[in-house]
Amino acid sequence: MPGKRRLITLKSPREIDMMCESAEILKKVFVGVREALNIGMTTQDLDRIADDLILRNKARSAFKGYRGYPASICVSINETVVHGIPSNRKIRDGDIVSVDMGVVFKGYYSDAARTWPVGHVDEEKLELVRVARGCFEAGVKQFKAGHRLGDISSAVQQYAESRGFSVVRDFVGHGIGRALHEDPQVPNFGESGRGGLLQEGLVLAIEPMVNAGTHEVEVEDDHWTVVTRDGECSAHFENTVALTKNGAQNLTAGCED
Ligand code: MF3
Ligand code: CO
Repeated sequence: MPGKRRLITLKSPREIDMMCESAEILKKVFVGVREALNIGMTTQDLDRIADDLILRNKARSAFKGYRGYPASICVSINETVVHGIPSNRKIRDGDIVSVDMGVVFKGYYSDAARTWPVGHVDEEKLELVRVARGCFEAGVKQFKAGHRLGDISSAVQQYAESRGFSVVRDFVGHGIGRALHEDPQVPNFGESGRGGLLQEGLVLAIEPMVNAGTHEVEVEDDHWTVVTRDGECSAHFENTVALTKNGAQNLTAGCED
């Protein structure tokens, strides 16, 4: 969800190393949150666990205070697409739970999201979760020097739609580095061969949001929580990925299952 327009900043190998350090911390936080996730706990419990781990690793949440966002992480259950504010809502058997987190360490940001099934989840929801991850992977395959942004967008969209799912259009991926949201925007839909040229030093948060039903979403009265218009489930999968001379490097890989 990028803010105002800025220029695309390419990162040096040194800067990508710094982003890697930030991402390593984020991965540790994901491990802790994944281990803790259980039926009966509240989304606020997850927020507290994440916040503790972030601070213990001498980083800070990239989300807390961002445009007034009131918590350290986003937890989005079932029909919630993204930006679920941690609350006293309990996680129930059969839920799919998306956890979206970002940290800043020594001035460098990393950002990632996972959607995990909890307990006995029906096959339709499991397929949705697999497809969201598959969309990310299809997108990353196109993240190559000489390709264009639209190659990523189109691959994500086709992966979802060819399997009977839809991609959210109102929220997009983004560049990331010394800010959480940098240019360019990375839509999860579009045409291959269009858009900016991908080059070494570009670091992107690629983040497909995939819906079981309509792609349409709405924002609740708290001005944050994004839900599907039809109440069907949604899954979110995100990583911070750097384009290096050795190709695309997923800085936040891990904890996918
Ligand atoms: N991964 C989300 C994004 O890039 C996280 C933003 S949540 C906010 O849009 F709280 F920071 F806004
Ligand atoms: Co993001």
